[in-house]
Amino acid sequence: MCGIVAAAAQRDVVPILVEGLRRLEYRGYDSAGVAVLTGDEIQRRRRVGKVTELDQAILDQPLQGGLGIAHTRWATHGEPTEHNAHPHISEDNLAIVHNGIIENHAELKEMLKAKGYRFESETDTEVVAHLVNDQTKQGKDLLAAVQAAIHELQGAYALVVMSKADTSRLVAARMGCPVVVGLGEGENYIASDVQALLTETRRFQFLEDGDVAEMTVSGVRIFDTDGNPVERKISESSLSADAVEKGEYAHYMLKEIFEQPRALADTLSERVAGNRILEAVFGPKAQAIFEKVKRVHIVACGTSYHAGLVAQYYIEQGAGLPCRVEVASEYRYRNPVVSEGALFIAISQSGETADTLAALRYAKESGYLATAAICNVPESSLVRESDICLMTRAGPEIGVASTKAFTTQLVALALLGVALARHNGMTDRIERAYIRQLLHVPVLVEHALKLEPQIREWAKHFADKRHALFLGRGPTYPVAMEGALKLKEISYIHAEAYAAGELKHGPLALVDAEMPVVAVAPNNALVEKLKSNLEEVRARGGRLFIFADPDAGIEPSEGMEVMTMPDHIEPLQAPLVYTVPLQLLSYHVALIRGTDVDQPRNLAKSVTVE
Ligand code: F6R
Repeated sequence: MCGIVAAAAQRDVVPILVEGLRRLEYRGYDSAGVAVLTGDEIQRRRRVGKVTELDQAILDQPLQGGLGIAHTRWATHGEPTEHNAHPHISEDNLAIVHNGIIENHAELKEMLKAKGYRFESETDTEVVAHLVNDQTKQGKDLLAAVQAAIHELQGAYALVVMSKADTSRLVAARMGCPVVVGLGEGENYIASDVQALLTETRRFQFLEDGDVAEMTVSGVRIFDTDGNPVERKISESSLSADAVEKGEYAHYMLKEIFEQPRALADTLSERVAGNRILEAVFGPKAQAIFEKVKRVHIVACGTSYHAGLVAQYYIEQGAGLPCRVEVASEYRYRNPVVSEGALFIAISQSGETADTLAALRYAKESGYLATAAICNVPESSLVRESDICLMTRAGPEIGVASTKAFTTQLVALALLGVALARHNGMTDRIERAYIRQLLHVPVLVEHALKLEPQIREWAKHFADKRHALFLGRGPTYPVAMEGALKLKEISYIHAEAYAAGELKHGPLALVDAEMPVVAVAPNNALVEKLKSNLEEVRARGGRLFIFADPDAGIEPSEGMEVMTMPDHIEPLQAPLVYTVPLQLLSYHVALIRGTDVDQPRNLAKSVTVE
């Protein structure tokens, strides 16, 4: 939530900052701002809305400078207004951009007001601006002032400060929110994410919690919590700048849906050989851990939580191990009982989701056998802090609605399920059969994508509705949940998912011609039961839209549209393949309704606040 970019260069940094913001917009997009030092004057432009609004403001009233900071916001404290937009300035002395939440901002504000500081916004960030300013007024240089000020802060932050008193440097600090330093030739940068800086550099250093960095055009010095200089590894990013461009697609979401065959193949590649899983891909400690696992506890948020719910089937039915799945925001405050031999698994696209990270940190202190991460961002906190991990190789996911991250999580979790099953009595023959099925998933997804023209037609039946129901049973129940989440987040149609067997226990009362009902119907052991549930809907005048296996015996009829899925989808593959038409359905409904598909209202891609 919120993206920050900063740069120190011997040229005008404004274009670097604006391009960086554009690439970070997925993190928040209700307002944006930039501040630069011109001579010893701080110049600032801020606008409500997206980065294009800020861009226009800069065209109307140009500004330039060699030292600058910028921010795209997702409001936490205070409405998305211009006066709440960052950068915030303290007494015309210094400017700051901040991502995160300062939990003790109210008491700090009282203390600062008592000292005579005036507040112009409702944000928690302005408190930090005044705190740092107060320290500089006591004679400290910018680095020392930031180091002193952050000792007063409780909560999470990634921040960058620029001061008129020191026109050659920027100071950044990290606690709980990501900060990356980009190393250029005669210029350097700071951002929330490498994506912001890929047009400028591929060389990055990742700050750790408690770190403070001082950056000039010629170098970067990093200090740990105790103020001691530290070296942070320099990594070379393999991402290309255009990996985050839309290319021929109208939206990132559509591009990312169509990237799934490749992303799934990449996630499987080099992880299996001879149709057997290579356990070493989970890391050197994995085998010793897998031997001791007696149960599994999965924790995640949103779409990643839905992936966990599917994995429960892979782990309980495939590996024969008890598996519990829950949302991170509940888990972290529940004092869970941890049994012997429990493996904790956190799933996250970004690896920076505040609740999931807090859950991982809690788990590390709670007596689990080990912690594992399924994640899409190798440099993320989640990956760095887990004992073992398996990376999804989805590539950058920019659309706020998660698509390829979800299906690649499923394939990674299926691999993990097979690895655990191997230690719990799965035969080589079954392992080989499962791996063969997984390797065939990219082809099946390719076939499912060909349904797009028909799905576009179906979308017309949803575009004017206010509600929709999604039904599934067994491992495709979480797929229905994911379908409902996609529809609500990008089209703003209220959508709920139910286990189809639950319908008659209440939600059937909602069914009428105005409530389209979507069902996913693979040909599995539950299909006959599902068919009875669908009849219950039809008998109440409900309009059904069913994605069905060709052998499920479900034919179109009055009130019942049926779209035939590719042939021969095995139970292990079904959650992966049936997800795809639901993604396309929500995309096309949103397109007709004219909503902002890639950046839906009130949401942000990376939820680094609680
Ligand atoms: C929905 C969506 C969110 C995320 C959730 C967790 O489309 O993207 O529900 O899945 O915020 O994010 P990660 O996976 O980054 O932890």
